[in-house]
Amino acid sequence: MFVTLCLNPTIQKTLFFWKIHRGEVNRSEKNFTDASGKGINVSRVLSQLGRQVLHITQLSKEDKLWFEAELKKHKIELAAVDTNARTRTCTTLIEENCITELVEKGNKVEPCTETELLKVFDSLLADNSKKIETLIISGSKAPGFRDSLFAELALKAHEHNVPVVLDIRGADLQKLLEILQNKPVKSDEAPVIIKPNIQELQETFFAEQKEPLSENQIKTFLVGLYEQYGITAVITRGSKSTLAFDGKSFLSIESENIPSEKIINTIGCGDSFAAGFAVSLAESGDFEAAVRQGIKCGALNAMTLQPGSIK
Ligand SMILES: Nc1ncnc2c1ncn2[C@@H]1O[C@H](COP(=O)(O)OP(=O)(O)OP(=O)(O)O)[C@@H](O)[C@H]1O
Ligand SMILES: [Mg+2]
Repeated sequence: MFVTLCLNPTIQKTLFFWKIHRGEVNRSEKNFTDASGKGINVSRVLSQLGRQVLHITQLSKEDKLWFEAELKKHKIELAAVDTNARTRTCTTLIEENCITELVEKGNKVEPCTETELLKVFDSLLADNSKKIETLIISGSKAPGFRDSLFAELALKAHEHNVPVVLDIRGADLQKLLEILQNKPVKSDEAPVIIKPNIQELQETFFAEQKEPLSENQIKTFLVGLYEQYGITAVITRGSKSTLAFDGKSFLSIESENIPSEKIINTIGCGDSFAAGFAVSLAESGDFEAAVRQGIKCGALNAMTLQPGSIK
């Protein structure tokens, strides 16, 4: 079973227009409402790849029934921790040559939501009847959770010998390094893998640098991450090659070359990458093959209207 965790669930509206005229009434050609958030995108792709998936998040009682029904359609099992905070709604506006994302801030959760989350997570890890193939933690978190929470959850899983893929950034990612400073991941232990995109990498670790990071700079940084913290890193760059360091070799693998008329919606490409990568790595143990499978799933998502979908 694959476990996904995301603490910023979203009701995602996708509206399709030929062209939006600002300041006027615009009527959509088509529209969809989906249960979303990065963790659900990852879960949906895992399910489309035929894998069993449990998704952990927080939901209010008003939102829980709807999410449960939506996730059931995609064969995703839900473990939702209670909160009074309602789920945010985010909107994607798709025009012929332009995609605009409108992102709401998440609502603040209560301290007891984090306490309950930790309880649910601990009992899942302690349940020997459930073999967790990989834990994937994605996205930001709603206000109210501590910055060190993702790192703590990841390391709890790591201590139970569960491989972890973290698509996180900013303070959440910095906390992971802070905690690993005193106890780096060893090469014979379950891997701790980070998968930020290139902008997230730059904003988290090179915030003062104005010009884009060079490949050489990225390589030096990824090798350093491995040597100092034992972390393996994969950096996705949209249509540009994916860069990664697996502890032995630095990889630069080209994205698929998709004709522009076939690119429909690139939102969720990174989530689809994470799902494909995690499945392939868990099942083959071959890091380069896993990156290639991630790239394939990212490309399939780019050619699909629904964000976080490869069919
Ligand atoms: N235009 C594209 N053409 C081909 N492949 C793409 C394109 N955009 C994305 N991909 C594939 O998807 C992978 C992930 O894309 P990207 O780096 O944009 O992720 P991201 O910014 O994390 O996305 P999100 O957070 O919305 O899921 C890329 O490494 C690439 O393999
Ligand atoms: Mg991403």
